[in-house]
Amino acid sequence: MPGPSLFAGLISLVAIARRAELWPNPEPCLGNCTFIHDPSVVRRSDGTWFRISTNGNIAIATAPELIGPWEYQGAMLPDGSKIDVMENQELWAPDVFHEKDEFYAYYSVSRMGSQDSDIGVATSKDAMPGTWTDHGSIGLPKRDETLNYNRIDANFFKECKDCEPIMNYGSAWNDVYQTNLKKDYLSWGGTTPQQKVYNSTFSVGQTFASITEGAFLFWWKVGDKKYYYMFFSSGACCNSADQLAAPGEEYKIMVCRSETVNGRYVDADGKDCLTENGGTLVLGSHGDVYAPGGQGVIVNPDNNKIALYYHYVNTTIGYNYEDFLFGFNYIDLSSGWPVVTAA
Ligand SMILES: *[C@@H]1O[C@H](CO)[C@@H](O)[C@H](O)[C@H]1NC(C)=O
Ligand SMILES: *[C@@H]1O[C@H](CO)[C@@H](O)[C@H](O)[C@H]1NC(C)=O
Ligand SMILES: *[C@@H]1O[C@H](CO)[C@@H](O)[C@H](O)[C@H]1NC(C)=O
Repeated sequence: MPGPSLFAGLISLVAIARRAELWPNPEPCLGNCTFIHDPSVVRRSDGTWFRISTNGNIAIATAPELIGPWEYQGAMLPDGSKIDVMENQELWAPDVFHEKDEFYAYYSVSRMGSQDSDIGVATSKDAMPGTWTDHGSIGLPKRDETLNYNRIDANFFKECKDCEPIMNYGSAWNDVYQTNLKKDYLSWGGTTPQQKVYNSTFSVGQTFASITEGAFLFWWKVGDKKYYYMFFSSGACCNSADQLAAPGEEYKIMVCRSETVNGRYVDADGKDCLTENGGTLVLGSHGDVYAPGGQGVIVNPDNNKIALYYHYVNTTIGYNYEDFLFGFNYIDLSSGWPVVTAA
């Protein structure tokens, strides 16, 4: 007999199917839009766009506009990181922030399936390959029994000049945590990390709790209310074509919202995102777009629209690691929740 959880599952599948018809295709992407995982996008003060992503010791590409044409420029850290956590380690999931033309790129050092990762930072005045200085680990506390997390998927957040620099991070193993950095943005600020988003659900056929990762914090004023939006990726990021996750369990972009940066984060139904598995779907698979995630949000100063960018698979092209594409859509926050809209 179908239990309540199967029933709830069916309802959420129906909800996903209904939204999928409303999601527009990604906006056009010109030039090199492929081999993209976990992109981070910034625009330099001269108007040049930078797209920095996982692969080859952090790939740097530039473009005159968000739609491209994107041109690959080279690796951020061609000789790897100062951090030495394990053999065959890789650099992943950069998150770039800039202030007064100093760029700060937080990156993860890890390997598939490892919980013994670390987060480092590199800086540059220019953002082009060859100009980056690696500062190594930012010194977030190592995991222990109480803070049993994984130090990957850094997300730097600073709301105003004198506001505290915030660091969100974590993936799988208890999901998303938040702490602070020192004022130079290069090392941990000493606040005990706090868990902010957690999904305790075991997805179909899995022996571990569902994965939540790639947090990205963004604030926006809706009317006279200021909200903090914690975007994150949920589910299986990178299935091969012959081993796809159950429908709805593949990567997708979710959001939770709070009136203060430290939380409590809730979803659009009021469900707590730490204690009640809350999270509102922003963008999932639709048409030949599969498993969008690894997202970030940026206001495009060329048109003042809010862009949600991500990586995704085009099912017609393929599911291989190198086939992952860069995509973005604009979002509308006027309802208080992000809605993906056609440009
Ligand atoms: C396209 O960009 C990706 C990542 O930015 C890079 O790894 C790849 O080498 C580039 N391809 C070409 C032909 O430049
Ligand atoms: C929590 O995990 C379940 C099982 O994988 C998944 O179906 C659901 O979408 C996840 N919820 C959120 C908010 O990510
Ligand atoms: C996916 O790729 C196919 C083949 O290149 C193309 O015709 C289609 O427009 C692409 N879909 C999207 C959403 O870009």
